[in-house]
Amino acid sequence: MVDNYPEEPLQPPWPKPKPYTSNIFRRLARGWKSWFGLLNEWDFRVSLGELNLLGKRVFLVNDPLLVRKVLVDEVDLFPKHPYTLWILEPLIGRAIFSVNGEEWAIQRRLIDQAFQVANLKKAFPAMTAATSSLLHRLEMNGVDSFVDIDKEMTMVAADVIIRTILSRPIEGDEATDIFKAFSRYQRHAGRALVLRFLRLPKSLIQLSLKDDAKVIRNWIQAFIHERLEQNKVDERNPLEKIDFLDTLIMAEDPKTKKKFSEQDLVDQVCFLFLAGHETSASSLGIAAWLLARSPEVQKQMRVEVMSVVCDRPIHSMLRFDELRQLPYSEAVFNEALRLYPPVSFFIRDRDKKDGELATSEGRRRCPVGSLLTLSPWVIQRHDKYWPEPHQFKPERFLKNSSSLQRNAFLPFGMGPRKCPGASFAKQEALLVLAELVRRYELLPVTDQDPDFVGLLTVRSQNGIRLRLRELEHKT
Ligand code: HEM
Repeated sequence: MVDNYPEEPLQPPWPKPKPYTSNIFRRLARGWKSWFGLLNEWDFRVSLGELNLLGKRVFLVNDPLLVRKVLVDEVDLFPKHPYTLWILEPLIGRAIFSVNGEEWAIQRRLIDQAFQVANLKKAFPAMTAATSSLLHRLEMNGVDSFVDIDKEMTMVAADVIIRTILSRPIEGDEATDIFKAFSRYQRHAGRALVLRFLRLPKSLIQLSLKDDAKVIRNWIQAFIHERLEQNKVDERNPLEKIDFLDTLIMAEDPKTKKKFSEQDLVDQVCFLFLAGHETSASSLGIAAWLLARSPEVQKQMRVEVMSVVCDRPIHSMLRFDELRQLPYSEAVFNEALRLYPPVSFFIRDRDKKDGELATSEGRRRCPVGSLLTLSPWVIQRHDKYWPEPHQFKPERFLKNSSSLQRNAFLPFGMGPRKCPGASFAKQEALLVLAELVRRYELLPVTDQDPDFVGLLTVRSQNGIRLRLRELEHKT
């Protein structure tokens, strides 16, 4: 049981920040491959960082109370930064994630309505079916095998979201083509941000993103068009066969009576597919890798899962209610989200009037047009807010946390723009991880650590290799 375990299970490797440099071009060059390259050691110690980036004032907001001010208390003064729209527009148009004001508010009411109708219980069969496909694929590899768990988790997360939205699976070559387009889009989008700082025009920046975006949009547009055509002739009550797309088609804003047009639906579904599979894939692959590196944590999680399923045969998967009885497993997932938050930064714009940003360390002027970066990656590893910040210790989420720490944990954001898919993502993650540790002993492959990069999400450039050894169990 103990072969292959790394010497430091508590301190998983991560791309450490570089020593400070005042040379902006060197910094931008470091950020070309991954935005983590823009960060200095110092950024993980200050409450508020400030930088003049070729004439633009850029802040790094770490102080949890200031984070709350920007995302919750004074949210109207800090809308999403236009760069968010620029790098995502070719793929998601003007979908909910990157727009502001009334345009956002209407979309949010419609999306919230859709989430209420297509609730967690309704989504559960899609999650079970996709997890079952994953387990089948792993079983085909044999009783002791090496797998790229990042690839497998990308597949299961995409399968969950596509089954939920469109009531169909995603598999084979179709999946491969779409993932390749996404992965190229991610790489180019990261670079687009650096190019924007260098003042390149929007049209030129978006050029490198258009082809890959088109592959994904055309694929999704075909399903939506087909469904709308079907609905025109379909006499059945839609409530009998409802999926997330149906709820989006039916949703109506109570204030404006607005509904999503066909074009809006393509934008929203492209975004929901991106949000629902990239983030979950990132967190699931990394959580499995952390479990593999930490045999004690893995053992404790397995004990918890087994105590819930008792002696049910292995083919009978965890049930909806049972997922609510796994506090330790939930703590494991939270700790994975703390150390490797899939959405590692958000950017906001200072709007309307000049202001000030105040922390216990002092005050800084914040003129209109300043760019504010709020980074779960930095805040959740900041030694002022987290003891032993780089260690993997799920138990920290079992204790009552201070309000400081609650504001310093924001993998799903905070305030009115908080992720509406958070409970969905947690349910999916608990099911997949619990079924995995129930069947397999997860072992790390020590000679190949993942090479994490910060793009639209945190992903490993070289995949995440694990060894899966089947456990003895009742059939
Ligand atoms: C581990 C998985 C996930 C993580 C870490 C995550 C994280 C986030 C974060 C940080 C934001 C807010 C960003 C900001 O304030 O700038 C966000 C927004 C959003 N997420 Fe998620 N997400 C996850 C899964 C999902 C899923 C599964 C869905 C849908 C099924 C989803 C749908 C959305 C939507 C619609 C928004 C936009 C909300 C708005 O702007 O009002 N997310 N997500």
